[in-house]
Amino acid sequence: MSRTNQQAGARPPGFLYRVLKQASILHCEQVSLADLAKRFGTPVYVYSASSIRDRLQAFERAFRKVPHTLCYSVKANSNLGILRLLAKMNCGFDVVSGGELERVLKVSRAAARKTVFSGVGKTRQEMEAALAADILLFNVESESELSVLAECAGRKKKTARIALRVNPDVSAETHPYISTGLREHKFGVPIADAARLYLLAAAHRSLSVAGVSVHIGSQILDVKPFAQTMERVAELVNELRANGHSITYIDVGGGLGIDYEKSTSDSPERVAEYAEALLGPLRGLKLHLLLEPGRSIVGPAGILLTRVLYKKTNYHKKFLVVDAAMNDLLRPALYGAYHQIVPVNTTTADSRETVDVVGPVCETGDFLARNRELPIVHEGDLLAVLDAGAYGMTLASNYNTRPRPAEVLIDGKTVKLVRRRESVADLLRLEGN
Ligand code: LLP
Repeated sequence: MSRTNQQAGARPPGFLYRVLKQASILHCEQVSLADLAKRFGTPVYVYSASSIRDRLQAFERAFRKVPHTLCYSVKANSNLGILRLLAKMNCGFDVVSGGELERVLKVSRAAARKTVFSGVGKTRQEMEAALAADILLFNVESESELSVLAECAGRKKKTARIALRVNPDVSAETHPYISTGLREHKFGVPIADAARLYLLAAAHRSLSVAGVSVHIGSQILDVKPFAQTMERVAELVNELRANGHSITYIDVGGGLGIDYEKSTSDSPERVAEYAEALLGPLRGLKLHLLLEPGRSIVGPAGILLTRVLYKKTNYHKKFLVVDAAMNDLLRPALYGAYHQIVPVNTTTADSRETVDVVGPVCETGDFLARNRELPIVHEGDLLAVLDAGAYGMTLASNYNTRPRPAEVLIDGKTVKLVRRRESVADLLRLEGN
């Protein structure tokens, strides 16, 4: 078997074409995607374990010179198989709900002690669960939340370690739905108000002020806004310390983007450049860094495998109707996001045509790609939607009563079904049927 990756466009490293009996077939690590489709059906999410490990190691390397903890952002991909893999590599976690916390507890009780809890709407119940799990840090996002947390911790005779999530009013170039650090956004507390709130926090016996947290958005490719944010936060840390607070942690959030157009984002250089942008302004402050990457760890490590059901031409427009839809991968419909799409078998694909790749859902917004030039494929052929490891399955829904896809984790030659395909019976069960 020989390897080849010369077909048009770069692919994420876990996925490459191998020539098998004269056919050039896309593989995930050592496993043919055509075989996986036969075995598990389509649509199916396929993840590469070694890509995930490589990405995590790139972060570890880039930040090796400073005390730090990686708190993988569970919302990007919360599959227990992936969380288990990350926990084994000593990863901590960033959770935003009691449900995500339960997932972390399920894979490792110890990892809960390296877990941070963010989010603007934590309920009392969620706070109590997080206190019981003895999580590392609550990222508090309002004055009211501060008093509710103090009350919960007091009642449980616990001390909650807290950071205030500050809103730095920094603009980051990304889709407006996933930009979070501007003054008009719901997130955090105004940075100018932080000193007053830290005094309030310090007055509660059940709260222990431990750090400052910030997160300016997601899919950010230019690292300058991260540096700008850190400059503002560094100033605040100095002010807080001068006021007598003990600030040990700086939670810098997540947000580093990946290159969906070229899929070259796995380059460790990007992570190194990101580290430099963050660390410059923090030099000399002796802080323990908490990092919450999500997409940059799992995004390029996953694909959505789908089969062409029908080809059709309406007037002059060509459509590939595939068996994956907006309910399986919402990003194109919700953000107009671009995902590379490639045929699994490129042996016969010599000429190209421009098509819309659409799903069976009854909405015009149900597309995976529009006006995309692709190698000519046929009904029954398989396509891989690349860079779908982050915010793919976690954003999936049952719209149109479509059961969600199966998920498979590949490690070398090993194939593990980490979530079975839902059945319609699974969906109806909650309605008493
Ligand atoms: N920390 C906090 C507080 C966050 O809100 C997020 C993402 C992260 C960390 C992880 O960010 P990442 O490293 O993955 O960029 N559904 C959207 C992305 C939403 C991001 C929400 N917050 C998408 O598909 O692009």
